[in-house]
Amino acid sequence: MTSTRRGKVVLAYSGGLDTSVMVPWIQEKYNLDVVTFTVDLGCSGDLDKIRQKALKTGAVDAVTQDARNLFVDCFVFPALAAGALYEGKYPLATALGRPLIAKLMVDAARAHNATAVAHGCTGKGNDQVRFDVTFQTLAPDLKIIAPVREWKMSRDESLAYATKHNIEVEATVKSPYSLDMNLFGRSCEAGVLEDPWLEPPEEAFGWTVDPAKAPDVAEYVTIDFEAGRPVGLNDQPMDGVPLIEALNLMGGRHGVGRIDHVENRLVGIKSRELYEAPAAVILHLAHRELESLCLSKQAQRFKTIVSQEYADLVYNGLWFSAFHQDLAAFVASSQRFVSGQVRVKLFKGSVIVAGRKSDNSLYSKKLATYETGDQFDHEAAKGFIRLWGLSQQTQAHLQLLKDGRGFTLPGIAGPSSETGKS
Ligand code: ARG
Repeated sequence: MTSTRRGKVVLAYSGGLDTSVMVPWIQEKYNLDVVTFTVDLGCSGDLDKIRQKALKTGAVDAVTQDARNLFVDCFVFPALAAGALYEGKYPLATALGRPLIAKLMVDAARAHNATAVAHGCTGKGNDQVRFDVTFQTLAPDLKIIAPVREWKMSRDESLAYATKHNIEVEATVKSPYSLDMNLFGRSCEAGVLEDPWLEPPEEAFGWTVDPAKAPDVAEYVTIDFEAGRPVGLNDQPMDGVPLIEALNLMGGRHGVGRIDHVENRLVGIKSRELYEAPAAVILHLAHRELESLCLSKQAQRFKTIVSQEYADLVYNGLWFSAFHQDLAAFVASSQRFVSGQVRVKLFKGSVIVAGRKSDNSLYSKKLATYETGDQFDHEAAKGFIRLWGLSQQTQAHLQLLKDGRGFTLPGIAGPSSETGKS
């Protein structure tokens, strides 16, 4: 039977209540056939079950795609190498996933000759921005439909709508939180978390144990890096996906990876978000530690600026930008010597570096040691310090201490003249 509808839309579909209700809603409101699209970035559940549900709900086609390797290789590991933590805290799991999902939706729209794409984001969050900006950039001809921004249905109304359209609603009690998760982390917001003073209740966590209940014995793990990318655990070479899964479990067991963040959203509001990202927290720490051995002082300092810019652009939905290409080029170049091993200790909610080593290490024991074998030129220090302090000394002589003037620094009574007489 050929459809009499005006065309097709590709809908980002999770199988939950909202995106299920969207199938008949879009058909009615826009007179479009719906092709659902479900991407697995880790933690998506049973893809086949989701597919069956979409078809039962009225989708003309239901596409699923396992994009976990692509996600790790092309999004997660580059962001890790860049040191990207939004506002110094959030490892960006959700933010990294969106441009990939949007890009794959554009591909699916082309393959199905669709004229529109749709997603279930609200009009208040960052995710709508990340989706829409990516669609707009890669496929400006596609119409963007965001039902939640339009329909103004309460949860009860959505449920009633679902019942009317014979959509099966799972009997599970809805979580009081808004959740999103993929391999690189779990994001939890809303409910009681909206009070930033309130300590998150244990039920808000899903991946990590309460650190107080974590094992009394620490666990060590060694991570291998090759040019800034994790390539193995405990001396075993490992692909990215299983490596991240293993660290999530290990870290989660020890209560590692809880992040409580009042963050500045792109749309102008502050929101309190609770993240769990054991693998991300462990890997970022380990990677930074390896960089401390392998990068020069200048490169390390400049990299902190790049990290911040990189995190901002990911958070703000500008993945497909020329600026990203520029930063990525610097990051890739900066990582060419960042190979080696880092050993970390997981214990009661914390991850602490235990050791690091690299064949490219700039650390020289002969220069650093206080014991025999010291090759540092102590004599040279004297001349170096004369010149290092010369401009400050000159300025003090010609300006600050001139004519009996003294230093005015809070709490410090300096000499009022160069002879030190007061
Ligand atoms: N605030 C995070 C971000 O903007 C997570 C958003 C999704 N979180 C959620 N609980 N639905 O990337």
